[in-house]
Amino acid sequence: MPISLQDSLDKHTGLYKRLEKVIPQKVWQEFVEDIEAIQKLKKEKNAVILAHNYMTPEIFHGVADIVGDSLALAREAAKMESEVIVMAGVQFMAETVKLLNPDSVVLIPDPTAGCSLAESITPEEVRALRKKYPDVPVVTYVNTSAAVKAECDICCTSGNAKKIVESLGVPEVIMVPDEFLALNVATNTDVKIIPWRGRCEVHEKFAADDVQQMRQENPNLSVIAHPECSPEVVAQADFSGSTVGMSEWVAKKKPGKVMLLTEASMSDNLSVDQRGTAFFGPALACPHMKKITLKKIREVLETGVHQVEIPHEIMASARRAVERMIEAS
Ligand code: 13P
Ligand code: SF4
Repeated sequence: MPISLQDSLDKHTGLYKRLEKVIPQKVWQEFVEDIEAIQKLKKEKNAVILAHNYMTPEIFHGVADIVGDSLALAREAAKMESEVIVMAGVQFMAETVKLLNPDSVVLIPDPTAGCSLAESITPEEVRALRKKYPDVPVVTYVNTSAAVKAECDICCTSGNAKKIVESLGVPEVIMVPDEFLALNVATNTDVKIIPWRGRCEVHEKFAADDVQQMRQENPNLSVIAHPECSPEVVAQADFSGSTVGMSEWVAKKKPGKVMLLTEASMSDNLSVDQRGTAFFGPALACPHMKKITLKKIREVLETGVHQVEIPHEIMASARRAVERMIEAS
């Protein structure tokens, strides 16, 4: 039964007060029924919702139990004891949760939610790299399929890439698939990095000229960039880090004006709690992340569809690459 706007506002006054800056009242009314149904389903099914920082505010603040970057979500996944885990994020994130929780039911609200980086490399291409560079270890960014991870020595995320590369204690590593992340790590380490040619279709759009122009137009603007941006863009930034690193930087420095060079929902989610900071800049949405909606989360909890499965033959090797990362970081 539809809930009146007044009823929904009364019932969730505290939550809506936090979100009113980023969700208009009319839109909120459409969300309330799903939020209530999801909260009930979580209890009934002993389920938890992990949500990436790029989820929209009604998911991030409204139904998620644990939020974070890829590293934090992998770490939390490794500790989970819930029967059912919903990964509100893209496919590679849900696969990582399943690798670390083979006995839990892992659900992804939309199995077509991919990632341009994950799609930029295949297991065969990793094998060809190994042939070309024998004895050079392969570090895979977490934004890859489980099948690619199974061919690699160790995984990394944007939050620990330099540390993982250096943990291997070798002069040279292959880093797949994100060319920009590899080049950004290379500027901060003595380890020689052999990059792949993958790009994030969102972060590659930010340009160093735009950053300069924004700074000219907005004095005292702080600029922070995700390391999937080009090295030229990262060089213009006051800080570069994972999505959690960026959130922590804003919470600690409390800048008056900040431009976040990353996916659009990050600014929305941060502005809910960082009331003294104004968020500027281009709002670029990741089309894959935006496939995850409250309705689809509710549907997977109700029906149990879209369970993530990892083929038996790659499970152990892919899991080892992720576990090695967690141990090393
Ligand atoms: P984080 O691990 O920094 O959250 O990044 C994941 C991602 O897909 C960024 O585009
Ligand atoms: Fe992949 Fe880029 Fe989307 Fe992150 S923002 S999921 S790297 S396409």
